[in-house]
Amino acid sequence: MSAPHYLLGLDVSTTAAKALLIDDTGQVAGVASTLLTVSSPRPLWSEQDPADWWAGMAAAIRQVLRETGVAGDAVAAIGLTGQMHGLVLLDDAGRVLRPVILWNDQRTAAECDEIRARVGRERLIQICGNDALTGFTAPKLLWVRAHEPEIYAQARHVLLPKDYIRLRLSGDYAMDCADGSGTMLFDLGRRAWSAELLAALDLPAAWFPPVYEGPAVTGIVSAGAAAETGLRAGTPIVGGGGDQAAQAVGVGAVAPGIVALTLGTSGVVFAATQAALVQPEGRLHAFCHAVPGRWHFMGVMLSAAGSLQWYRERLTAGAPFATLDAEAEAVPPGSEGLLFLPYLTGERTPHPDPLARGAWVGLTVRHGRGHLTRSVLEGVAFGLRDSFTLIGEAGLGDVRQVRLSGGGARSPLWRQILADVLGAELVTVNTTEGAAYGAALLAGVGAAIWPQRGRRLRRDHPADRPHHPQPGGDNGL
Ligand code: XUL
Repeated sequence: MSAPHYLLGLDVSTTAAKALLIDDTGQVAGVASTLLTVSSPRPLWSEQDPADWWAGMAAAIRQVLRETGVAGDAVAAIGLTGQMHGLVLLDDAGRVLRPVILWNDQRTAAECDEIRARVGRERLIQICGNDALTGFTAPKLLWVRAHEPEIYAQARHVLLPKDYIRLRLSGDYAMDCADGSGTMLFDLGRRAWSAELLAALDLPAAWFPPVYEGPAVTGIVSAGAAAETGLRAGTPIVGGGGDQAAQAVGVGAVAPGIVALTLGTSGVVFAATQAALVQPEGRLHAFCHAVPGRWHFMGVMLSAAGSLQWYRERLTAGAPFATLDAEAEAVPPGSEGLLFLPYLTGERTPHPDPLARGAWVGLTVRHGRGHLTRSVLEGVAFGLRDSFTLIGEAGLGDVRQVRLSGGGARSPLWRQILADVLGAELVTVNTTEGAAYGAALLAGVGAAIWPQRGRRLRRDHPADRPHHPQPGGDNGL
């Protein structure tokens, strides 16, 4: 048997099932993925079939092993990550009872009101760190109870998306604290299921699996799953974490002072904390981190790079990004009074309002395409600053550096605008591997490949030239 020297990160995202292999120096050896589709059987609904996740993941694992030539028995451990909050409901034999209701499904406004009424909004935020949000797991359970009682009657297990992959790999029902805290049924401070919330919502505690820390081993690959994937039976699997926490591990946002900023379709501001802090009005999400003994705040903006994508496709007939950037750069900071509100798909942080809408305000005949483009970049940057300011008010100390990743990070102008608006040093990190990379790092810690857990998880990434806030930049707007 060859020495086990590789780690596998598995990410079941909304768009793909991805398998990423790294070696024991942290270098990426290979990645393979299978695309997934989302169904929307009714307006505002968003669902997937876990059978597709498993088939896609098994194929991705086989492919990455084949393409890298790495033998299954050279994989020392596996880390799991994935889209958060999705409700996977299973019967007593582990059979999926209905399509999974995903994180971006908006059907549960009434159930969110019910939860606030049963628990009290203040108490809810105190216990789980979050106000009731339609995307989270608990209101979905209440929705099934109210609308599909025959399905609810058969339910015996609740899992999150990546934990369904764990079930198929090992036969174990288990979850990690970071993902668990996105269910709204978790006691944030105790890093455990909240007996008070389960009782208040009348949900059976027996449905919820044991929870583990991100690097803790939860089980091993079964003989059946080994045959399906090419992995070695007995390979340890660690807890892992939800996609945001795993992504933060991957970019080294594991201690206060470093803020991770992801500029994808949505925009995420992520700051690790040393204690279970909450924003008293629940305007920021507060979750457990995938790193033991750490928590984090998170602000989620729904249309970040998504706003630019919309603008470019609909209003510029797909003009090259470089052209749009050059035109916007010729316009002074502030876009000569033109403001853009980026709420094209409603908003989550800090205005949890599905009815929030986008707008340009202050148009004059002086404004041209460069102004429109620049105002979009600035509007998104100020939307992100709202989360950044709330995090600053939580008293975490100075932000030493912002680590930027995601498609929007490719624009040098946007990077500079962000540095100016946030008033902090900003570096870009190369995370094409994303959350799967963080999950593989957690597996390396769990398998004791890296005894110095802290050093490995704080691993610094090669970064581009830092952007510093400029005098006269957008921060004075
Ligand atoms: C986090 C969130 C998304 C999903 C999908 O709160 O809703 O990050 O996990 O990626």
